[in-house]
Amino acid sequence: MKLENMGNVADLREVARRRLPRPVFDFIDGAAFAEKTLRANTADFGNHKFRQRVMVDVSSRSFATTIVGQPSVMPVAISPTGLSGMLWGGGAEVLAARAARKAGVPFTLGMMSVCSLEEVSAAAGPIWFQFCMLKDRGLVKLFVERAKAAQSPVLVLTVTWPMSSRNNRLVRAGVTALPPRMSARTLLDFALRPGWVSRTLLGKPIAFNNFVGHMRGPADIGSIVAQLDNSATWKDVEWLRSLWPHKLIVKGIGDPEDARLAFDSGADAISVSNHGGNQIDDAPSSISLLPLIMDAVGGRGEVLLDGGVRSGQDVLKALALGARACLLGRAHLYGLAAYGEAGVAKMLEIFAKEMDVTMALTGLRDVRDASRAILW
Ligand SMILES: Cc1cc2nc3c(=O)[nH]c(=O)nc-3n(C[C@H](O)[C@H](O)[C@H](O)COP(=O)(O)O)c2cc1C
Repeated sequence: MKLENMGNVADLREVARRRLPRPVFDFIDGAAFAEKTLRANTADFGNHKFRQRVMVDVSSRSFATTIVGQPSVMPVAISPTGLSGMLWGGGAEVLAARAARKAGVPFTLGMMSVCSLEEVSAAAGPIWFQFCMLKDRGLVKLFVERAKAAQSPVLVLTVTWPMSSRNNRLVRAGVTALPPRMSARTLLDFALRPGWVSRTLLGKPIAFNNFVGHMRGPADIGSIVAQLDNSATWKDVEWLRSLWPHKLIVKGIGDPEDARLAFDSGADAISVSNHGGNQIDDAPSSISLLPLIMDAVGGRGEVLLDGGVRSGQDVLKALALGARACLLGRAHLYGLAAYGEAGVAKMLEIFAKEMDVTMALTGLRDVRDASRAILW
């Protein structure tokens, strides 16, 4: 399928599925346990329907906005995702960040990326940086200093990863470690994807380059997972707040009480998120929790949402229910795996088109005015 024939994110997902070796596709497409949260995240957007309004002057429309004060051409930012570099020749975070920059949308680099913060910032300009609370607080301080030096305007603290969960698709395929054990089936699967294999063999070696000097080997995920501090509390968020002078987003709020505590601890914004269903299973979808969380925080800061966002229409629904913007996880990974930089650009173009048309047909001229009035 050609890039210009991509109608929606599902089309990009289908190309990604064909181009990636099965375990790599399952790493981005799969989620925890029985994947109930993953499915609910997308399905529950269907519980909200638009009001079609006609004969409203929608001759000029704007979906430009700011997210924690950062300008964005539309109310989305790229969500942090680990190892996304491996989707297109090892260096793919640079490609994704470039596509986001050209489109005018913020990009968040995850600490588990292949390309380092410095490498992506040098190639694509200042980016947002995400990490988790680590046992070695010296390393947390170092990340903060590196983010300052790289002129990152926003830090994202992810709080949904106190320990690793389990993607059963990978368990069934026997791929639970890095580098994966190669069964005959896995080898055959890789052999059937020569494009991905040759790009990866020729590309940047897959490693966790933000952690150089803090691991036993370049792809030693064990050293990093051992660093996850599951004794961390809101006191640690207050501590991080005291170190970081710019915007701080706490990503991974799935309960109204935690939303309040995040703002009490100094967050500028939160993201309502269950880590795309990759951590807890059988928890409510992000979109179903959003109204409860909006009520709990009562305008104390911006509320973002991630989980299941696959279209510009999903973004508008989240905005109608109170979110400032959405973070795009799998949507950008499918684009990246399908066509590299061009695929992420295409995904953003698709979102913009879907948003623009839906705004016109709901009588909405400025996306910042989105409210429940556009929904039944
Ligand atoms: C393959 C993969 C890797 C991810 N890695 C990270 C990560 O390193 N840090 C993080 O905060 N979130 C990570 N996430 C979660 C995303 O940032 C986001 O919360 C989630 O993908 C949203 O759900 P969606 O992909 O269904 O839209 C990851 C998600 C996926 C699918």
